[in-house]
Amino acid sequence: MAHRWTNDLTHDDVTPKSAYLNRRQLMAGMAGLGLTALAPKANAAADLTPTDFDVISQYNNFYEFGTGKEDPAKHAHRLTTQPWSIKIDGMVDRPGDYALGDILSKMTIEERIYRFRCVEAWSMVVPWNGFELKDLLDLAGVQSSAKYVAFETLYRPDEMIGQKSPFLDWPYVEGLRLDEANHPLTLMATGLYGKDMPKQNGAPIRLVVPWKYGFKSIKSIVRITLTDKEPPTSWNKSIPGEYGFYSNVNPEVDHPRWSQASERPIGGGFFAKRIPTLKFNGYETEVANLYDGMDLRKNY
Ligand code: MTE
Repeated sequence: MAHRWTNDLTHDDVTPKSAYLNRRQLMAGMAGLGLTALAPKANAAADLTPTDFDVISQYNNFYEFGTGKEDPAKHAHRLTTQPWSIKIDGMVDRPGDYALGDILSKMTIEERIYRFRCVEAWSMVVPWNGFELKDLLDLAGVQSSAKYVAFETLYRPDEMIGQKSPFLDWPYVEGLRLDEANHPLTLMATGLYGKDMPKQNGAPIRLVVPWKYGFKSIKSIVRITLTDKEPPTSWNKSIPGEYGFYSNVNPEVDHPRWSQASERPIGGGFFAKRIPTLKFNGYETEVANLYDGMDLRKNY
């Protein structure tokens, strides 16, 4: 499969701790994808502070398990992820409940090392494992009338104890424009560091859209709906003046309550310096054309 983006991150940008991965195996996999052959971009890679697996899996936003950063790691063990299926419906030729095992048997899992930038102005560098969302949409056969993709997280308050509180209007929902969903950078992730997805990170399968703020990367997905209307999104419903549909990372458009010009790499220790935030989180070359002619300030 051809990959059309430039990856400027390597394992040197992630944790040096190799306990969680077989570096040689991953490097071989990356060479297979042609990733190691690509020249690094001039910007940012050198400024990134490595992110440790323990940090990625213990500093989380997953409000279904509580509002504290440590709550998901404490409570997500209650989540049962087997069996798991994704309902794909709306404007598709082959709607239905797709068992996760059947989906995975048709996909090739690859590694993608992406920057991950939360709207709260912290960031990590994460080695995800997954497949392109487009390949899943192709399985279901998207109809020409479809313009957007809506996503929904599991609703199961007995296991997701945060859903007993009205913090958000459950289930968590998100959405993308169809061209964003079909972009080769847009990933359905099933793991990180070569391991199955930790429950607190959105097991068994979640979205990763690396040029958008982290809240677009919806976790533990049970439903994907193709539609011709812009779908509602949880944070926009909750605080519409602060969180829009697009939510592209943009250092030039501040959050109403804080600057988005820089970010705090998590896991860099107490003295870690803030680093400048990059437009589209460093993926400008790959995705800026999706927004040609759009006012990014209005479409925040
Ligand atoms: N998905 C669901 N279902 N519930 C959530 O609370 N939080 C979002 C996003 N996806 C969230 C979610 C936010 S705000 C962020 S920053 C990322 O998940 C955090 O992902 P991580 O915990 O894997 O770093």
